[in-house]
Amino acid sequence: MILRLIFPCLALLFGFCAPGLGYHNPREPLPVSRSIHWRSDDRNRGPFYGQPEQIHLSYGGDPSLQIVTWLTFDDTGESYVDYGLTKLTQRIRANVTKFVDGGAKKSIRYIHRAVMTGIKPGKAYIYRVGSEYGISNMFTFTGLKERPEGGYRYGFFGDMGNINARALGAIQKVSQDGEIDVVLHVGDFAYNMDVNDGSFGDEFMRQIEPSAAYVPYMTVPGNHEYAYNFSHYVNRFTMPNTNDNLFYSFDLGPAHFIGFSTEFYFSSVLESVQTQWNWLIQDLKKANENRKNVPWIITMGHRPMYCSTDDSDDCKFKESIIRKGLHGTHAYGLEKLFHTYGVDIGLWAHEHTYERLFPVYDRVVYNGTGNPYHNPPAMVHMLAGSAGCQEYVDHFKNPGPWSAFRSSNYGFSTMHIYNHTHIHFQQHDVSHDRVEDSIWLVKDKHEPYSKMDDHHLLKHGVYVP
Ligand SMILES: [Fe+2]
Repeated sequence: MILRLIFPCLALLFGFCAPGLGYHNPREPLPVSRSIHWRSDDRNRGPFYGQPEQIHLSYGGDPSLQIVTWLTFDDTGESYVDYGLTKLTQRIRANVTKFVDGGAKKSIRYIHRAVMTGIKPGKAYIYRVGSEYGISNMFTFTGLKERPEGGYRYGFFGDMGNINARALGAIQKVSQDGEIDVVLHVGDFAYNMDVNDGSFGDEFMRQIEPSAAYVPYMTVPGNHEYAYNFSHYVNRFTMPNTNDNLFYSFDLGPAHFIGFSTEFYFSSVLESVQTQWNWLIQDLKKANENRKNVPWIITMGHRPMYCSTDDSDDCKFKESIIRKGLHGTHAYGLEKLFHTYGVDIGLWAHEHTYERLFPVYDRVVYNGTGNPYHNPPAMVHMLAGSAGCQEYVDHFKNPGPWSAFRSSNYGFSTMHIYNHTHIHFQQHDVSHDRVEDSIWLVKDKHEPYSKMDDHHLLKHGVYVP
């Protein structure tokens, strides 16, 4: 009961909360007391491939909780995470689910999840995972704690594949060196995780391990996760306060993060758009009630509302579906919803570029003042989809007035949330080993945008017809 109070949706990790979606929940829980296919009176029988791999962390929704997820290709029975400060003094048994890929081979993977509890802020931990049939290397992480200079620093990006993952080495390095506290991967993994009966997904999860085994690796779904009802994405990752990783939220320090699926808007399952929409409203209401303690509201979604890329993606259209809602009815348009509830920042990807936007609402661009990022009267959008994949980078054509800075260099972004008022963004151009863009966002107040804000926006802004 105490555990449920500190982490009310811990139960979700173990698969017994009802899914809130039209999508079938494809995580298949295995009972603790299950009979294992290779276990028999024949003592010579054991699992094939019981070695744990693809170890990765995710934030448990509270700094005292660190989730670890890993994979084996056979059922190993009981599995554990062992962890501690200098010795492995704590053991938590994993929950195991069976994941059957939708490809021709119907290949099977066993996903192990455990929540390390009692994590002390700022303390360096060691841990390893596995079972009597194989244990992992020893990894380390540091309990989440505000930095000496203030706040938390996030690495964020999207659209990173197995092939041509140009920012991968830099992301691994900053993760291990303590230069970031959390990774935010805003959709599109591996290209694609389902390819070759899921072996692309395995390779992707192995290649992010040098980052994700050291800092929490937080995710939202993109269009490249679409196969088999997003089942690779749902099964391979473990986000807090959700049982399918499709939409969820968490607080860390002065920021409330909302991860959601833009992909529902491009599927035929309207129920999922509705379910997510209702959840978003409730979550945004709750976040606003708590704004005194957690002032920043930051959304993470894969496909952006605005962009300047030379392509025909949704963000290029005046009536972007993500921005304005479904064609014809304009139902479920996210821009108005986010404006109504005072969302400060939107993190996006999908375009294989970096683009920083001026504050903008309803195609009115706030670019007519000396410092538009000081108390902006509208949301700030940051696009970072140039981590690298086999589709290469995108280029720009006729950038809109919303485009404050843009680059087709491979890279990733960092966002340092110092406190209730100051955030520092940097774009890291990994090919040239330099910071190519940086900006301070300063907000003295965080609340739903007011009539005064709208007036201010119109007075100093430019409407883009
Ligand atoms: Fe995408």
